[in-house]
Amino acid sequence: MELAAGPKRKSDSTRRVKTGSILSPREVNCRLAPERRGTIHALNVTATPQVEVFADAAALTRSAAEAVVRAAAQACSARGRFVFCLSGGRTPRALYELLATEAFASRVDWMRTEVWFGDERCVAPDDPASNYRMVWQALLQQVPLPAEQVHRIAAEQAPQTAADAYEASLKSALGISDSGAPLRRFDLVLLGLGSDGHTASLFPGSVDEPGHWVSARFAQPAWRITLTPLALNATESALFLVSGTQKAERLAEVLRRPLDPERLPAQRIVPTGELRWLVDQAAAARLG
Ligand code: 6PG
Repeated sequence: MELAAGPKRKSDSTRRVKTGSILSPREVNCRLAPERRGTIHALNVTATPQVEVFADAAALTRSAAEAVVRAAAQACSARGRFVFCLSGGRTPRALYELLATEAFASRVDWMRTEVWFGDERCVAPDDPASNYRMVWQALLQQVPLPAEQVHRIAAEQAPQTAADAYEASLKSALGISDSGAPLRRFDLVLLGLGSDGHTASLFPGSVDEPGHWVSARFAQPAWRITLTPLALNATESALFLVSGTQKAERLAEVLRRPLDPERLPAQRIVPTGELRWLVDQAAAARLG
């Protein structure tokens, strides 16, 4: 994998990086585009996934915000719109708050952004457990994103009804290929990692009904609606955000081979586009 375009002469910044190598901060930074230099603490170079380790959660959040800005700009220039699928959880909240600040909000074309949700708890939209409520408070209410471009999961309805309705909206927005997968892709899917290995609301041991893009499942203490891997993997880029020592053990397992996706559902994320893990040093403590 080539990291960043560099000068023509053969230097550190143009040499091919061997898959599996861990680069020092100096080596990482001389391979990064100028605007990203100094942001990454260490980088574990794999063909896929790409794991980037940051000194702390704040550095991780800043890099994630830059990634959103870049993905939005690329998508708008290539396809005229930015189709963004959001994650719930504590880690992305800081990202949403940062994106709402003038410094970042002014760099995203919100009028051409469509927001979807990767999962939701089956509660009313104003319930403290609602992902929609969290994202609304942290980001959506503060940016000029037209309400009709925010596609929330109507999780106040009966779980299966909500899942079917969301799947129908998603299918009408993305189109369906001959194989039953999305015809068009998300531009960016944000994801988190639970300390049991779950991502979105794909929990250990849960099974998808084949062909479904959205499913309803019970996960103590409540029902949840989740996009399935068939939908989540249809993306230009999947970006995991993982922070804290409580994730260290599971993160190492998820990134390790052989795969055990039934126990570690985060391994079911194998996007058609790029797969990046932004993790802080605490979460990276068990990576070799
Ligand atoms: C949710 C998420 C869930 C989350 C992980 C990590 O709605 O809670 O979709 O999959 O991403 O549990 O959450 P934290 O970022 O809070 O650790």
